[in-house]
Amino acid sequence: MRTKVTVVIDEKIGTVNPNIFGHFAEHLGRCIYGGIYVGEDSYIPNTRGIRNDVVTALKKISPPVLRWPGGCFADDYHWRDGIGRRDKRPKTINIHWGGVIENNHFGTHEFIDFCRLIGAEPYICLNVGSGSPKEARDWIEYCNFSGGSTLARERGVNGASEPFKVKYWGIGNELWGCGGYWDPRAYATEVKRYLTFIHGFSVFTIACGPRGDNLFELRRDWVLEFFEEFERRHHPQFFPIDGFALHFYTRGPRAGGDTNFSHPEYYWMLRRTSEMEDRILQVRAAMDAYDPQRKVGLVIDEWGSWHPQAHKENGLWQENTVRDALVAALNLDIFVRHADKVSMANIAQTVNVLQAMILTNEEKMLVTPSYHVYDLYKEHQSGTSLRILIDCPEIGFRSEGEELSIPAVSGSASLKDNTLFLTLTNISLNEETEVDLVLLSSDVIKVKRAVARELRGSDVRSYNSFDEPDAVKPKMTGISVKDVQRRKVTLPAHSVSAIQIEF
Ligand code: AHR
Repeated sequence: MRTKVTVVIDEKIGTVNPNIFGHFAEHLGRCIYGGIYVGEDSYIPNTRGIRNDVVTALKKISPPVLRWPGGCFADDYHWRDGIGRRDKRPKTINIHWGGVIENNHFGTHEFIDFCRLIGAEPYICLNVGSGSPKEARDWIEYCNFSGGSTLARERGVNGASEPFKVKYWGIGNELWGCGGYWDPRAYATEVKRYLTFIHGFSVFTIACGPRGDNLFELRRDWVLEFFEEFERRHHPQFFPIDGFALHFYTRGPRAGGDTNFSHPEYYWMLRRTSEMEDRILQVRAAMDAYDPQRKVGLVIDEWGSWHPQAHKENGLWQENTVRDALVAALNLDIFVRHADKVSMANIAQTVNVLQAMILTNEEKMLVTPSYHVYDLYKEHQSGTSLRILIDCPEIGFRSEGEELSIPAVSGSASLKDNTLFLTLTNISLNEETEVDLVLLSSDVIKVKRAVARELRGSDVRSYNSFDEPDAVKPKMTGISVKDVQRRKVTLPAHSVSAIQIEF
């Protein structure tokens, strides 16, 4: 199989916001309790109750931002339940995720502590569904106010005299669903009410956008009606929203199971993933009608693979195979290619839930193939996204009687000073591809150094287990300066490659 990849060095798309490599952690299953927080008295090594092994692993992939406390959980979360002495915190019911008892031991202070340990900016999702503008403005004041207000003093009494400076605040989660099944116009009116009371804190606010699964909702009901209502009798220039959140999970009946899938199911899953690009174009185009200067950023604050093995009863736990790693790679490439449109993206979720970076079982911990993709891709953060043209064969497959196809190769490119960073994925199950790599520039390009790492695994169904935690991990490839000069790079079957070229 032959592929031609042209990187147009002179055609700059925009700066890759590091936040597109963001994460999401919810009070769901074993994400927070057991996955991140084990308590100070645990036999599992921890820092103030937070697992040391998870912190060390996450720091390595430079997580820029972490969204919390949900998800659906956010619209039933009352922040005061999670502050003060832990033994005095109320026990509440996690109504969305199995009706389990929430002891509130991981609250605002513990979340900020975790973010600081891993080096991520906190992103807090406010409660709109069952909360109030007062509860929201008080939470922001508690976190961010530096003066002598009663709430700021209370934060000090609880151990943090300095403000947390939380920049990102979501105005509810999935308001079209578990946030209260709102109508987009009613939600837009509510957002204006919230903004009236929180805009004075100069924070970055993110309103709930559409559900990517439903194209009709996506284009008409939610985006257009939200913005139409938002602008009515309102001064967006004074009380703006800064971000608008789209959720799009890769799932569907034709994708098979987490580790058990056929070849057509494998390709169907990746083809469905590639639809993320259409969602971004459609939502941004609809937003552009109201926000032509793109002052409001498109935030994809929940995305990832969701297999049938992940259900409420097991806390949305699923295995994470090489196929999931390719899902991550395809999505991240889309975000990098659309750096002018996507300002943040948060994979769901960090530990033990859905497309997790990390899985834990008591004191054991492993990193997943998807984690390795984040490690491979981190050099894109803050680079300048470049136009990339990929000319490759289409892979045809049959799914439920339908003839479908998907391009064999996907990728993205970014530039930092004189270093080009290129990520390329060959999804073919059995064929490697030889890439004719063209670096198109008005300047003469003299390649000085080239290094590459790749992730593939022995089979697309392979995954890291507690018995074999390193079954899938990246390795250096033999790609050299000569290969790049000769314009010849090989991508093995079902592999993700990250190539750094210095000139
Ligand atoms: O990530 C799991 C759930 O998926 C979130 O709680 C919700 O927002 C979404 O539907």
